[in-house]
Amino acid sequence: MNSVEIKLAETAGFCFGVDRAVKLVFELVEKGERVCTLGPIIHNAQLVSELENKGVKIIDSVSECPEGYTLVVRTHGVEKQVIDELEEKNIKYINATCPFVTKIHNIVKEQGEDVPVLIAGDKNHPEVLGIRSYCRGKSYVFKNEEELDKILQNGEFDKKDEIICVSQTTFSQKEWKKCEKILKKVCTNCKFFDTICNATSERQEEAAKLSKEADLMLIIGGRHSSNTCKLRDVSAENCKSYLIETADELKDIDFSGCRLVGVTAGASTPSVIIKEVLKTMSEEIKEKEVETTSAVAEEVVETAETAETAASKPAVEASADGEASFEELLNESFKGNETSKVVTGTVLSITPTEVFVDVPGRKQTGVVAFEDLSADPIEKCEDVVAVGDEINLIIMKTDDNDGVLKLSKRLFDASKGWNDIVAAKESEEILEGVVTQTIRGGVLVTTNGTRIFVPASLTGLRRNEDLETLKDKEVKFKVIDVNPARRRAVGSIKVVADAERKEQEDALWATLEEGQKITGTVKSLTSYGAFVDLGGIDGMIHISELSWSRIKHPSEVVNVGDTVEVTIKALDEETRKISLGFKKIEDSPWEIMKRDYPVGTVVDARNILPTVDGLIHISQIAHQRINAPQDVLKVGDIVKAEIIDIDFDKKRVSLSIKSLIEPPEELEEEAPAEETPAEEAAPVEEAPAEEAAPAEEAPAEEAAPVEEAPAEEAAPAEEEAPAEEEAPAEEGAPAEEEAPIEEAAPAEEEAPAEEPAE
Ligand code: F3S
Repeated sequence: MNSVEIKLAETAGFCFGVDRAVKLVFELVEKGERVCTLGPIIHNAQLVSELENKGVKIIDSVSECPEGYTLVVRTHGVEKQVIDELEEKNIKYINATCPFVTKIHNIVKEQGEDVPVLIAGDKNHPEVLGIRSYCRGKSYVFKNEEELDKILQNGEFDKKDEIICVSQTTFSQKEWKKCEKILKKVCTNCKFFDTICNATSERQEEAAKLSKEADLMLIIGGRHSSNTCKLRDVSAENCKSYLIETADELKDIDFSGCRLVGVTAGASTPSVIIKEVLKTMSEEIKEKEVETTSAVAEEVVETAETAETAASKPAVEASADGEASFEELLNESFKGNETSKVVTGTVLSITPTEVFVDVPGRKQTGVVAFEDLSADPIEKCEDVVAVGDEINLIIMKTDDNDGVLKLSKRLFDASKGWNDIVAAKESEEILEGVVTQTIRGGVLVTTNGTRIFVPASLTGLRRNEDLETLKDKEVKFKVIDVNPARRRAVGSIKVVADAERKEQEDALWATLEEGQKITGTVKSLTSYGAFVDLGGIDGMIHISELSWSRIKHPSEVVNVGDTVEVTIKALDEETRKISLGFKKIEDSPWEIMKRDYPVGTVVDARNILPTVDGLIHISQIAHQRINAPQDVLKVGDIVKAEIIDIDFDKKRVSLSIKSLIEPPEELEEEAPAEETPAEEAAPVEEAPAEEAAPAEEAPAEEAAPVEEAPAEEAAPAEEEAPAEEEAPAEEGAPAEEEAPIEEAAPAEEEAPAEEPAE
């Protein structure tokens, strides 16, 4: 018996769109999601049944979608209303419509309402129903020349008007050519969009070619699959052709007399089924003692395996460990005839997993996988591109079988980005990027698709600050080192930040002058003062400059973050130190004294104002003679007293309790009526004691406050008023023995050195 050769078509099996859809469903199932498909995901009963065993439900309408399920839309798409319904009902769905079908939706959507759309295809096929739903005006479907002729005869539109003609992706190329010829003759203003999928046309062309050589053709695939049926029809024109779904059906086929058996398979036929058919066929032919070349059988099985892996294997495999694999990626991408070519494409459509791109002059559709879009972490493809964008890409792989051109934007960006990095190192240009990752010892900054390592010490953060605070932040940096061999670059954020700070400081210093009022923000507090950011440069308010009152800590007056108006008290160019004043002159107690406490004011307090004490001379405590103030007053007493004198230069206030009390009668009698009261007569320094009040006539203590009158002029007896010893002229408050209203020490005694004397 003659030996039988078996030849498998190279284009047999899953097309790009089906492979993608099936993978999406398997991925969802593996993730543990509950999945349903709107109709069977592909026209292959075996695969559908496998999915059903994994819990994937098949539903016929959106309303049947069970709660909590993710609905997957099939490769040939659905009518627009279905998508609208899914959106309205907020049902989670994955649109696995083949991008080649989406492209047709987009073409018809763009036409005006008055442009008739002619569709070459099967009017009942879901793909065609979907295409029609996106037409804005009238649409007509024809599956052959006769049907087209009828449409043209109907006269529903003017043949001279603008018309467009598209095809179902699985339409016969041969039929399309015939119909196109007719239309070109009749409709002079018809635009043709050959939207037959390459995968389909190439499969059909190969089937036609193979069937001319073969004695018998086997077409493996679902009986409901339109593209599988087309393959059978194409082959049947040249030889005996059988459509089978599984290897079981081989037993009904008579191979006797065949020298060459051609095998092809529909776009939705899993490779496992193709392999099974080839294996069984080989065994059966052997059994029938038909000599089969085992090498050929093995070869075809191998071919089937290759077909399976080619669809699923990414052209360039990415590994997770950064730079070295990046190098491999780039090198790998440069292999082959076409790869490494840079092309510009226009974004046609965007799906969660890929971006489809039209590359001018290319028959194949360009596909950029999600992971090939950007080096930056992204959530969605839309974060990087929008429909209509023109983008530069590197060709990673051309796959004529699938009609797909695999492209990478990430590699293009990285390649361009690297050149920019090297140039920036030379020119010391400041670059901008985003901190995309923190790693041991530093952070990675991404700019134009290239990552630059910034060591922790060059991030500009303080030693104990967390690197994570920089994550996702935009930063400016300089490239300080590059390693072209390993494509590694080191950057410094600090060098830019330091330079910016210095520039800001210089600019600010140029505008500052002593006495200037300026607004700043309290940056930090210490026990001795507050540091204020004046807009890139810090100044310090000494604690004594914060308040007219004595305070223990700056936080009693200001807090970190407060906006404060300060006065520049001193600028030290050399040390770049700025001393600031915060308290205001109008709030000074002595200003308040001037304004609100004139001589004659009666006060009722332990001290008049914070830091302003008054002295009640012993002679001003009572009309009658007292031996010591403590005989009538004690520390802490609050007394009513009249301000009888204020010396603003010496910061002294003289008070009198006596002036508010009627003198007792016996004293009135003793005192001659013409005698002038000492306090009215004059302070001692203004009127010499012997003139104003002779010792025997008016006791010295009545004549003048002790601190204002030199003892030899005003106070006759040491035991009565040893004022000159106990009240030093510089101090505002006398010693306790002198009976101050309050024992508080004057502020200037305790204020730190920087505090100016009041
Ligand atoms: Fe798409 Fe073409 Fe397959 S249209 S589903 S790639 S046959």
